[in-house]
Amino acid sequence: MSQFTTEWLSLREPLDIKSHNQNVLRNCVDTFKNHETISICDLGSGTGASVRAISPLLPKQQCWTLVDHDAKNLSAAKYILADWADSTQMTSNGISIRRSEIDIEVKFLLSDLATETSPWPPKTDLVIASALFDLTSNSWISKIINKLSERKLSLLAVLNFDGRMKANPSHVLDERMFESFRVHQKRDKGFGAAAGPNAVSVLEDTLQGYGYKVTSGNSPWRMNSESRPLMNETLRGIAAAVTDTEMLKKSEVKNWLDKRIAQTESLIIGHRDIFARPKEQ
Ligand SMILES: C[S@@+](CC[C@H](N)C(=O)[O-])C[C@H]1O[C@@H](n2cnc3c(N)ncnc32)[C@H](O)[C@@H]1O
Repeated sequence: MSQFTTEWLSLREPLDIKSHNQNVLRNCVDTFKNHETISICDLGSGTGASVRAISPLLPKQQCWTLVDHDAKNLSAAKYILADWADSTQMTSNGISIRRSEIDIEVKFLLSDLATETSPWPPKTDLVIASALFDLTSNSWISKIINKLSERKLSLLAVLNFDGRMKANPSHVLDERMFESFRVHQKRDKGFGAAAGPNAVSVLEDTLQGYGYKVTSGNSPWRMNSESRPLMNETLRGIAAAVTDTEMLKKSEVKNWLDKRIAQTESLIIGHRDIFARPKEQ
């Protein structure tokens, strides 16, 4: 079962879009600007947020394959995308939507990426993953990049947690809470010991080793009173993860969370985005 509920995914979607690194996105968009059509595979797609965020920037004829192991998220993706579209038609294996003069075929693939490391259809041009790679392991990253390079596929991986965390005003337990959270992020999330905050450096090194041209940049979540519901949910998530590690006493975690919910004015969670394309493309 996934802990990535549709409620959590919809809460984070507006800030995810705002946080994308524009230079990294531009590199991706420029790579495909002369294509008439583009075929994209979105790994760990959740409810299809990347379709809504990135399709407006890509060629006007698109085919997306959304891959996730959570059937609830994929079925939510179908109705959220239909709602987002100007018009929708059902197809044998998904939906065909039109939004702002862009035609998008969307197929849904229920699959466990831990065991299926190349789920993309034969004609794929671009593989996308949003908020996925930090859950995966170093060995899984090696495997998938090996498969990508065999097919000379480009990769856009956005919103990978990079370990940087800062809250204001500061609390005496912040450092220990954040360090324990980073430890939790390296625990197995279904792919072996997670790359966690090291995911982007592992991606960069591995992709460069395969001759890819790589662009990366920061894409932090900057939360404040305007993003209070997301900020509070994030703080609760940090507290739950730290409780799981047993690195702090339950009373310390509770004290930190109570103060943080009452007093936090701003919270920054570091992410990095990366785009990589085979050198000859
Ligand atoms: C943090 S959410 C991101 C969702 C979406 N990409 C977004 O940005 O809104 C991670 C997604 O990866 C999916 N996921 C996690 N482990 C997976 C696995 N082993 N196989 C397939 N999907 C997986 C989860 O179900 C969830 O939808």
